[in-house]
Amino acid sequence: MTHRFGIIGYGGMAGYHHANSLKYEEFKDEFKYVAAYDINPERLELAEKKGLIAYKTAEELLADESIDTVLIATYNNFHHDYAIAAMRAGKNVICEKPVAMNAAELEEMIAVSKETGKVFTVHQNRRWDKDFNIVKKAYESGVLGDAYTFESRVHGANGAIFGWRRYKEMGGGMLLDWGVHMLDQLLFMFGDEKVVEVYAQFANVTVEEVDDYCKVILKFESGKSATVEVGTTCYQPLPRWFVSGSKGTLVVKNWECEGSILCSKNTETVWEPIVIQTVAGPTRTMAPRPKETMEEIPLPEADPHWTDYYHNVVAAIEGREELIVKPEQALRVLKVIDAAFACADGTGSIKVNI
Ligand SMILES: NC(=O)c1ccc[n+]([C@@H]2O[C@H](COP(=O)([O-])OP(=O)(O)OC[C@H]3O[C@@H](n4cnc5c(N)ncnc54)[C@H](O)[C@@H]3O)[C@@H](O)[C@H]2O)c1
Repeated sequence: MTHRFGIIGYGGMAGYHHANSLKYEEFKDEFKYVAAYDINPERLELAEKKGLIAYKTAEELLADESIDTVLIATYNNFHHDYAIAAMRAGKNVICEKPVAMNAAELEEMIAVSKETGKVFTVHQNRRWDKDFNIVKKAYESGVLGDAYTFESRVHGANGAIFGWRRYKEMGGGMLLDWGVHMLDQLLFMFGDEKVVEVYAQFANVTVEEVDDYCKVILKFESGKSATVEVGTTCYQPLPRWFVSGSKGTLVVKNWECEGSILCSKNTETVWEPIVIQTVAGPTRTMAPRPKETMEEIPLPEADPHWTDYYHNVVAAIEGREELIVKPEQALRVLKVIDAAFACADGTGSIKVNI
């Protein structure tokens, strides 16, 4: 059976979902987008031109009994109400990230998915990013030894946030936009391990109302820490990933996944510490480690297929598989984001149990 999907909010991202559904043959027998609703008549006209039924209201789209699943890709502040209305109308829901403005909204959405029995998932597509899968593979292989610090960054220098992302009321800002992906990746990688402390810093470099820079530092129950940093005015980008463990340090420099792992060759090796002179004084601790005690190894191969997200959603709708992106996982991410925003007034770090 080919599932019939509808779209609420036919903007840039929904257009991308729609185009991909047509481009990838592998979706052909699973689902197709058949209809759309958008508050903007021009977008609705475009949807019609692209072969979709253009509904004049969301209610009409939700009343179409041939549609079993709805993609919600509006501004973030409308996700909650549309997702609830769609599930109550008997539709499964794929919601764009961030699934809601905060954890309280998501709790209500989860309650409705339980009450209606409808499949409810979030488009956390960056779980299928190559850079993330390389890091996950390296971490899980143990090559880094006891990995104690993770740094995940995206740095741009355009100094700009566009459109609705500039406004608080619509769920704008970089923590909700990019941070949500990066936190989802980290929490997914660490499984059930609890977050016990959250600290955050925000800046408004070129945008007044919402964060165009954010840094969130998490402490996990094992003691390891993770930093998520999103910058829109960083002229010299730091690596996409930096992970240090007792036996090695991993760097993934960029989206192209250049980088390597520098490892200790033999942890038993003992060497005579040297003292080096810096301009204003000597140091032994920070002297370079002898080259012969280290080796550089390539990053592990990773070849994730983002199309698996959709295959899994369809399999979950048909009761064949569990969802990969579970709303309860998104809830943990939003609880971390709530805690991060609570630090914005300068109260310092917050102890949590997430
Ligand atoms: N997963 C990803 O990688 C990714 C990437 C980009 C955007 N997104 C998410 O997708 C969503 C949309 O972002 P976008 O970049 O496509 O923005 P966009 O501005 O291009 O599209 C949003 C669309 O929603 C419509 N809309 C707004 N309010 C509406 C309402 N009340 N009812 C119906 N339609 C309404 C707008 O007219 C617009 O066409 C956001 O939640 C965003 O965070 C996800």
